[in-house]
Amino acid sequence: EKGTYPHYMLKEIDEQPIVIRKILKEYSDNQGELKIDQTIVEAIKEADRLYIVAAGTSYHAGMVGKNFFERLANIPTEVHVASEFVYNTPLLTEKPMFIFISQSGETADSRAVLVKVKELGYKALTITNVPGSTLSREADYTLLLHAGPEIAVASTKAYTAQVAVLSILAQAVAQSKNIVNGIDLSHELSIVANAMDTLCEYREEYEQMARDFLSDSRNAFYIGRGLDFAVCLEGALKLKEISYIQAEGFAGGELKHGPIALIENGTPVFALATQENINLNIRGNVKEVVSRGANACVISMKGLDMKGDAFVLPEVHPLLTPLISVVPLQYISYYAALHRGCDVDKPRNLAKSVTVE
Ligand code: F6R
Repeated sequence: EKGTYPHYMLKEIDEQPIVIRKILKEYSDNQGELKIDQTIVEAIKEADRLYIVAAGTSYHAGMVGKNFFERLANIPTEVHVASEFVYNTPLLTEKPMFIFISQSGETADSRAVLVKVKELGYKALTITNVPGSTLSREADYTLLLHAGPEIAVASTKAYTAQVAVLSILAQAVAQSKNIVNGIDLSHELSIVANAMDTLCEYREEYEQMARDFLSDSRNAFYIGRGLDFAVCLEGALKLKEISYIQAEGFAGGELKHGPIALIENGTPVFALATQENINLNIRGNVKEVVSRGANACVISMKGLDMKGDAFVLPEVHPLLTPLISVVPLQYISYYAALHRGCDVDKPRNLAKSVTVE
């Protein structure tokens, strides 16, 4: 039920801090330590490489997940778009393990890959919001998102739930491998939930940002590097899905290799700056587009912020920034769609679960 909310999407964006806390609870043991089913942890530990397979927003969560498995648990990880993997299967390593990420658990493109993986005799884990869904039943293992039903077609709380569960899984594997990475993940995720609460209080600012940057635009660009790049792809997808503004995410460094040709006077460019090691690089990219007339909207994280930034995010652990930088982008997409009179919860041509290949 959407209660007093005008749209499910807005309700689901607002629910994200609750979902993170719910996930923390569901994946904690009696002592309050984060915990994942040991058979799943063992299956991942045995693998020489992880293959994450997903579509759309879930693929973007997978891009973030790759960073967790590689940086926290030292496991090489590839992320694949399901529809590509089926017919253009990459050369697999000797001991691959597959992770399917799917809100609905019904995505036909992902199912087709899972069928193939099973034929080849490999193990698969499904991370899904829907218990008993097809991808869950057909995989060897399941981890649930516990995000509650997601009704709006544009995925929001499922994305943050996927990222949070992936972080917990990667850290559980790291612990089991006795890797000391110094991260108290349960504490860091609580900080994320609090930061999300704070972010939900700035709706008027996001609405104004939608007006300032997207009012008359036919297109919009999102630039970022590393984890910010993954979130840029997600921010752009969210905007195009529900507002029908053509939106593209680019890696900041790739701009000069082509996309910068598209920048005109007033072109909106959203830039994320949440990573210390690339802050100056992305700032340089912002200068490049501004000098060509772009209307730049920089969203930075506290501590890395600079004069003129449009919005400053509360500080969270650098690996977990995708959980919070996505929130303003979700709201901005929502308001941009609303201002254009679009059907926010049921955008044209899209279905909540895509059950055809
Ligand atoms: C984005 C969106 C789609 C889905 C994609 C995968 O807002 O809704 O891109 O993310 O169709 O769906 P699931 O996660 O159900 O496999």
